[in-house]
Amino acid sequence: MCGIIAYTGPRQALNLLVDGLHRLEYRGYDSAGIAVQSPKGQLHVEKQVGRVTELARKLPAKVPGTCGIAHTRWATHGGVTTENCHPHLDALERIAVVHNGIIENMGPLKARLVAEGVRFRSETDTEVIVHLIAHFYDGMGALGDSVSPDAAGDPVVALRSALARLRGTWGLAVIFADHPGVVFAARNGSPLVVGLGEGETFLASDPHALTPHTRRVVFLHDGELARIDTSGVQTYRLDGASKSHTVDTLEQEWGDSSLGEFPHYMLKEIHEQPEALRQCLSGRLVVEEGTARLGGLDLGPRELVRLPHVTLLGCGTAFHACLVGAGAIEQLARIPARAEIASEHRLRNPVIDPEALFFAVSQSGETADTLGAVKEVQVKGGQVMGVVNVVGSSIARACGRGVYIHSGPEMAVASTKAFSNMVTALLLFALQLGRTRALSPLQGRELAVALQDAPSLLRAYLAQPGPIEDAVRAVIGAKMVLFLGRGASAAVAAEGALKLMEVAYIPCVAYPSGEMKHGPIALLEPGSPVVVIAPDDGLKDKTLSNLQECRARGARIILIYTEGDHEAAALADVAIAVPRSHPLLSPLVTVLPLQLLAYRAGLALGRDIDRPRNLAKSVTVE
Ligand code: M6R
Repeated sequence: MCGIIAYTGPRQALNLLVDGLHRLEYRGYDSAGIAVQSPKGQLHVEKQVGRVTELARKLPAKVPGTCGIAHTRWATHGGVTTENCHPHLDALERIAVVHNGIIENMGPLKARLVAEGVRFRSETDTEVIVHLIAHFYDGMGALGDSVSPDAAGDPVVALRSALARLRGTWGLAVIFADHPGVVFAARNGSPLVVGLGEGETFLASDPHALTPHTRRVVFLHDGELARIDTSGVQTYRLDGASKSHTVDTLEQEWGDSSLGEFPHYMLKEIHEQPEALRQCLSGRLVVEEGTARLGGLDLGPRELVRLPHVTLLGCGTAFHACLVGAGAIEQLARIPARAEIASEHRLRNPVIDPEALFFAVSQSGETADTLGAVKEVQVKGGQVMGVVNVVGSSIARACGRGVYIHSGPEMAVASTKAFSNMVTALLLFALQLGRTRALSPLQGRELAVALQDAPSLLRAYLAQPGPIEDAVRAVIGAKMVLFLGRGASAAVAAEGALKLMEVAYIPCVAYPSGEMKHGPIALLEPGSPVVVIAPDDGLKDKTLSNLQECRARGARIILIYTEGDHEAAALADVAIAVPRSHPLLSPLVTVLPLQLLAYRAGLALGRDIDRPRNLAKSVTVE
């Protein structure tokens, strides 16, 4: 989704900003723009629909200036047009703004500004912000309310006055032509991090954009403003009082985010799963005691044993991992556990039991709906912990405690290795919790050993993935693909359907196989592809009965089954074997062929694999 990068220092800003934009590309966007303060006291702005490389191609060879802001836009208000690209300028072109987030009261604010004579150049909500700042910067009359008399000519006061009138979410970077070398920033619900260099300072919406330059960072908090210059950052509260801040150090070993020899990040990340899984397990299994220890939770057995129930919250792929995790917690700990879509949970005024435990599961740690759910649980006195990949992300910090899944950088929009590590982290928790209850040392040890061996199972499958191309041929021309599975495999079915939809743009429907006959069966006609996930996990026979029902209607069956299960394989048109695993671990192996199917189908259809249309890596709007 939208990305922000800004720079002030002794170096020429242009190339640094373009490089920064490239590092934000993986988040998904549709246009990009840049504003540089020229030494002559003007703002040089360039915008382009499409990729950052297209913007770079359009830029003049030199745009002199050592301070600037830049943005990748993912359209929310207004179409994908050059006019709607950020940065947006005030009428006199002295102030430039880039914005992540959504201004909810854009309508009334715009109406008042228009009544004052302001002419808007775009359809965006962001343009309201820049005109509002200009309004107060020029010391003009109140917009129907009282104005701070000292706002004129003071950027911080003008910014504060403008922000006080906004409703919604923002991560903002602002430059003024008459304040050379200074970037102003503000955060409310959309992340911003300041990077402290030697005599130079950066600002970004994503720490990933800062790592080539510095690892010393200051995370801005909601409701904060910042003034950034070459010597560092000053932070303020919205009421104008200056605030202290802490300097954090970004992790050194975040991992390799280059493509290497792979043609796409998605394929690279699929193949990284065995190693990512090993990282996630590292130091967390206590095999001899048949348990796991998740230090970041800081929950001892006496606290764990008192938990009445567990709720797992997430969106998209993270939600599918929550479904698997909830099943495992119930199985192993025999307490109620449920998974819920974060955007639903947060807005339905949920009943929160303060004794219970909530998990917010997220790769990016920035998903607005999941972050909103965290806040709602906290407002109601509940205890929520993060299961997060990106260290220091908003969800990780809002939760304070939790489990890092250690997937390393996931650049493809389609999440793959984060899914397997979320599932693994939740299985570790289920094991730890189970051992405070009925789970015996022997049962615990069996699962701990299975987890320890899981990376080699994944490696074995990826070395011999089976007839994926046959499956691709069965789905690429299809009107619709039905995915079926039971128990944890129902979650894998949902994940496989999501992957194929987002990467190949093929309509997919996922159902728990028992539900199929209650409706989706009506979709089947001769040749309809049905992907059935039926590992040998105790539920298989019932799933195979549903498979037969599909076959009886002429459906083409793509079966994911446990190797050696010849009886099951004989029922399929395309049979893809995965290694035998502990039943609770089957999602880790059964998801692999589905990830490869989505990747290969996307490739066959000429899709933009790593940046599918309309999608964003981190969804920072609600
Ligand atoms: O960063 P998160 O894990 O919170 O993201 C949640 C979803 O937006 C994400 O899983 C999305 O569904 C992916 N594109 C799926 O591949």
